[in-house]
Amino acid sequence: MNFADSDVIAAILTRAGYAVCEGAEEADFVLINTCAIRDNAEQRVRHRVRELRALQNRRHQLRVGVLGCMAERLQSRLMAEEDNVSFVCGPDAYRKLPELMRGVRTNGDGSLAAVELSETETYADIEPVRISGNGISAYISIMRGCQNYCAYCVVPYTRGRERSRDPETIVHEARTLFEQGYREVTLLGQNVNSYSWGVQDNSCGFPELMERVASIDPALRVRFATSHPKDLSDRLLEVMAAHPNICRCIHLPVQSGSNRMLKLMNRKYTVEWYLDRVDAIRRYLPDCSITTDVIAGFSTETEEDHQATLDLFRRVRYDYAYMFMYSLREGTYAWKHLADDIPEEVKKRRLNEIIALQGEIALENNQLEVGREYEVLVEGESHRSKQQLFGRNSQNKVLVFDRGDAELGSYRRVKVNACTQATLLGELVQ
Ligand code: 5AD
Ligand code: SF4
Repeated sequence: MNFADSDVIAAILTRAGYAVCEGAEEADFVLINTCAIRDNAEQRVRHRVRELRALQNRRHQLRVGVLGCMAERLQSRLMAEEDNVSFVCGPDAYRKLPELMRGVRTNGDGSLAAVELSETETYADIEPVRISGNGISAYISIMRGCQNYCAYCVVPYTRGRERSRDPETIVHEARTLFEQGYREVTLLGQNVNSYSWGVQDNSCGFPELMERVASIDPALRVRFATSHPKDLSDRLLEVMAAHPNICRCIHLPVQSGSNRMLKLMNRKYTVEWYLDRVDAIRRYLPDCSITTDVIAGFSTETEEDHQATLDLFRRVRYDYAYMFMYSLREGTYAWKHLADDIPEEVKKRRLNEIIALQGEIALENNQLEVGREYEVLVEGESHRSKQQLFGRNSQNKVLVFDRGDAELGSYRRVKVNACTQATLLGELVQ
């Protein structure tokens, strides 16, 4: 999400005459695009902001702006607490950035904040400038905001109400990327399954949008994130089954394997409902990988609740999971009504148990891949060796293989010979 936002920001600033430079050493402005979802994300931003002080002492013209969810959450408070931050700008106010940056130069620092949330802003007309991409794979934001109000989550407060972007502009962006040589797009939203545009006869929901994007070209891979389990429909699975270029990977955050926790979290589904959706995925798309997010140590979580999460992990056998310790966020329902009552070391121990179990499962899943062949989109050089390249299969698993005659951005068949927990090691099939 933030990568996609940074590309929109780069586009707005490019239009206003600014240019991206190599690093902070040469910059007049350092803009930090932030996440507020957990406290440790915010602590990292504060650390980075403080680090920049030394550079600012040497280069007096350098100004620091904080953008995104942390700016929205803290507003002017952030400038009071971090006195080298000259301005803050929330996720719906990026069009005001050039004005803020001019303001900093003419009026001085410290009081400039653009944090208005919007019910309509989707930046639909802005063609993102891809500043951090590889020229092969790109993110496309299809909607903004979230109004699911999970009890622990700050996103509805920092990114505002849910709104969908005009499908014409999404399809146009995907087609343009394909013509520029991109071979993979990931459609992004907090809850893509509630994407909705237009009315009745002329309406376009997420399955229809996927159909349109997938029909651009069979050589364009299409991915999406994130799906809320309450809204994952059979219709979407049918569309996926009909389009082999829609990747066989569904990110389906579960958060907890205990019905009591799910209710307290306001997730609006039960474990039974979730498992039914997993069955539906496996029925329509037998080769689909499933990944998840989970939170350890939410308010009042008992050992029994925790065991239920481990059981769910054993049943679903995820290919990958993002695993977090619960972090109390100001302003959320949980902050107002639910005690953060699980001691840090218990949270940590439960998280480590989930991580250890998931590690075993991922390794076992990968061992089953040995001997199989996959079509891989070649994305870059392996971090370990220039002689090796890496790419992903449709299931989003990373394959590393000897370079041979493979070119970046091409599709190649790769046979899996070995694996680790995180990577499949293979060879090109000529
Ligand atoms: N504490 C820990 N994890 C959180 N997430 C969201 N809010 C919190 C929080 N307060 C996790 C959820 C979500 C992912 C993006 O971040 O698992 O799916
Ligand atoms: Fe947060 Fe829930 Fe919305 Fe995801 S669906 S962004 S967890 S409120």
